[in-house]
Amino acid sequence: MGIQRIESVTYGIDDLDTCIRFFDDFGLFTVERTGEHAVFETLTGQTLHLDTDPSPLLPGPVEDGPTLREVVWGVDTREELRRLVDAVAREHPVRESADGVFHTVDLSGFGVGLTLARPRRTAVAPRPANTLGHVHRWNTALEPLTRAHPLRMCHVALNIAKDGKDQAVAFYTGLLGFRPTDVVEPMGVFLQAPGDDDQHTMLLCHRPDRVGVNHIAYEVPGFDDVIEGANHMIDKGWREARRLGRHTIGSNVFRFLHAPCGGRVEYAADMDRVDDSYGTRVHESTPPHHIWALRTHRDQDTPA
Ligand SMILES: [Fe+2]
Repeated sequence: MGIQRIESVTYGIDDLDTCIRFFDDFGLFTVERTGEHAVFETLTGQTLHLDTDPSPLLPGPVEDGPTLREVVWGVDTREELRRLVDAVAREHPVRESADGVFHTVDLSGFGVGLTLARPRRTAVAPRPANTLGHVHRWNTALEPLTRAHPLRMCHVALNIAKDGKDQAVAFYTGLLGFRPTDVVEPMGVFLQAPGDDDQHTMLLCHRPDRVGVNHIAYEVPGFDDVIEGANHMIDKGWREARRLGRHTIGSNVFRFLHAPCGGRVEYAADMDRVDDSYGTRVHESTPPHHIWALRTHRDQDTPA
């Protein structure tokens, strides 16, 4: 089948203590910590690496300041991994590191790794909900969650340059087996990994016409987790980048936070799942960013 999921990501950062505090508060779990770097993981075992001195195997940063340096993709079998590495190596330099990751660089300058996926099962218990005729919760009052713990990194959004955007996308579709699910011609291309059911595993966004990390999204079990997780972050002093809403493309409920490692992070829930019958949807103009976003009467009171 091929690529299943994001296996790990690495950021090159300046302020390790601040980044550690951010991802602790965000709900990831610490795996390792030294004076130079830290490793966190999601409940399904994907790892986030924060590095003040990233490996020389990685390409240089694509933008000033802390930023994403590499996304490593997990592949289901050794045969598929070999096939993908061979396909990439025919056109681009590939180097293998001691941990079994094959490293290359995409056309925008982001590090790209390939390795065997090592998924970890986790019990997911969405909160049972009640509505007329569909009662799933009896005799049980809800308790506050107080914070969120991400199940998985579900997608990565990268900003790419307008110039050469088709070739930048073709690296992922032609060599790595991603398929475009929604092509928004003025904005970017949503891509699904072959082993993923989410409407997108990746977004390559050319609208800002500037290479950099846009965001990484983390799936949580439900809406309460999105809201309470971000409330917890705000209580801890972090800044919200985009208030609660539900996207048009993908339908995911979201809240975004500015991240000290570069770009933003998203708590996400209830994204569309799509199979091959969804095809590729081409949008000549950009659909509205969201179906809805949280609004208060104070928005109307604010001078434009
Ligand atoms: Fe997103």
